[in-house]
Amino acid sequence: MCGIVGYIGNRDAYPIIMNGLKRLEYRGYDSAGIALYDGETIQLCKTKGKVVDLEASVEKEISKTGKLGIGHTRWATHGIPNDINSHPHFSNSGDLVIIHNGIIENYATIKKELINRGYIFNSDTDTEVLVNLIEDVKKKENVKLGKAVQIALNQVVGAYAIAIFDKKKPDEIIVAKLGSPLAIGIGDDEFFVASDASPFIEFTNNAIYLEDEEMAIIRKDRDIEIRKIKDDSIVAPYVQELQLNLEQIEKGGYDHFMLKEIFEQPSVIKDTYRGRLLADKGIIKLGGLEDYIEKFTNADRIIIVACGTSWHAGLVAEYIFEDWARIPVEVEYASEFRYRNPVITEKDVVIAISQSGETADTLAAIKLAKEKGAFVYGICNVVGSTISRATHSGTYTHAGPEIGVASTKAFTTQITVLTMIALKLARIKGTISQSDYMLHLRELDLIPENVAKALKKNKEIEEIAAVFKDATNFLYLGRGYNFPVALEGALKLKEISYIHAEGYPAAEMKHGPIALIDEQMPIVVIAVNSNHYEKVVSNIQEIKSRKGKIIAVVTEGDTVVREMADYIMEVPNTPETLSPLVTTIPLQLLSYHIALMLDRNVDQPRNLAKAVTVE
Ligand code: F6R
Repeated sequence: MCGIVGYIGNRDAYPIIMNGLKRLEYRGYDSAGIALYDGETIQLCKTKGKVVDLEASVEKEISKTGKLGIGHTRWATHGIPNDINSHPHFSNSGDLVIIHNGIIENYATIKKELINRGYIFNSDTDTEVLVNLIEDVKKKENVKLGKAVQIALNQVVGAYAIAIFDKKKPDEIIVAKLGSPLAIGIGDDEFFVASDASPFIEFTNNAIYLEDEEMAIIRKDRDIEIRKIKDDSIVAPYVQELQLNLEQIEKGGYDHFMLKEIFEQPSVIKDTYRGRLLADKGIIKLGGLEDYIEKFTNADRIIIVACGTSWHAGLVAEYIFEDWARIPVEVEYASEFRYRNPVITEKDVVIAISQSGETADTLAAIKLAKEKGAFVYGICNVVGSTISRATHSGTYTHAGPEIGVASTKAFTTQITVLTMIALKLARIKGTISQSDYMLHLRELDLIPENVAKALKKNKEIEEIAAVFKDATNFLYLGRGYNFPVALEGALKLKEISYIHAEGYPAAEMKHGPIALIDEQMPIVVIAVNSNHYEKVVSNIQEIKSRKGKIIAVVTEGDTVVREMADYIMEVPNTPETLSPLVTTIPLQLLSYHIALMLDRNVDQPRNLAKAVTVE
């Protein structure tokens, strides 16, 4: 949460910082701020609201000069979103300026000590405490900024990605990382700093991703110096060549990133299995898995840890793994798992699923599982992310940047990876027949085509959205493989439209939720061809007799449910095991259209942020 961006070089920093903030706004959008330095005066502008509001304030309030700049877009933790709590923050002397993504947990104690020593605080933030702690150390120890940052960070508990500069040193920015991501873009005689590479991708493909507990002293016209925060020892920089391109982070003609990302699914699912799934030859190649295959085949059980949509993908995996590979699976909310003192042994395999690869709870669950001796496998989208590095091995989803805050293509590509893993394990263990295995490989290869067909119903789904946009509650029901899809459909609706929605296993309806049903209540039922089809039909009858409005996701050509439902959303026929990959498509579109009709900010829903780097 929070996006940070910085620049030092020979260009004007302003456009780089401002465009960078726009690209990082998915990380938080409660407030935004910028500091520009021309070697004489620091121009500071910050405001509650979005980056466009900041842009407007800059026009009125400051000059845009300076070859050094830092900017911040905030997801509020300490202190309400207002102008004062916005970053950047000055130290008391006015010499040091900082931006920070993360939380300083022991800020209250440090603040008290600093107040006793005469420091004054204007904001409620932990960040203002940190910048003054650094200033205090710098003065007390009579050291340079880099050393002061290193000493001060050893006194704080929490998570941070920071960028800080000193008015007396116009050629230097110091950055440091623990828990929150930080990338340094390396140009010719210029450097960029950001929470991810998107702010600098048009300037350079060369980047260093700082590891946890590392800091970097970045000096214009000089090399970067990377040090360990703990003991100040020098670390050799590892410069990566990035694969990201500008097109991937732009809307490409769509009105919203979310819509673009929904429509990208046929191609990104293909990207996920390209070179890994050789359907005709009956081969699945997953490098990260092959090296550790015995860990999986000998595992007593698989524990999946994740949050939100990634947790829903984990639930789908529970069905697939148990069905095909006959390995017991438990799916855990990472936030609960990490604090529950769970029973984990060396014979457990833990799969951590995370689009961003930065989710704090998932990361903590991984650390715990590793401490207890489990083998941990990561499924991440963001290459080089903290979780992808913290796991023993893993598979990237290759979905490309997901910028819409509501997760869409991450879900389907995660399921694609999990499906390949389960099929491979089942084949090795001999728990799936050759014919079933081959059938599923071929069907998986057809998924992009089937998702494309499901997307063609967009217009019809938009019409259904218009009918139900004013409903205040929705129920989503599904059974078996499509129960997690019901949960995911409900999550999509609530997070972007702010309409209350609940997902349930269809059969659970009569154990409580049925009481909610009346003629006002829309109920989305996933009723595609499956082993449970007849049972879902019975559930639909039960809803009908209570006059609920039924919106059913059905298989193309279905006649039975069509007769009973008020509205239908058709998807192509797929085996039940792969059906979540297509049944989720109409639910994503339904949420998108309803949110749009309600004039919600689809890409940046209120109170949310894309990467949840705080617990
Ligand atoms: C929902 C959504 C969140 C994330 C969750 C986990 O649309 O985006 O529920 O799925 O915060 O994020 P990752 O997958 O990045 O760990």
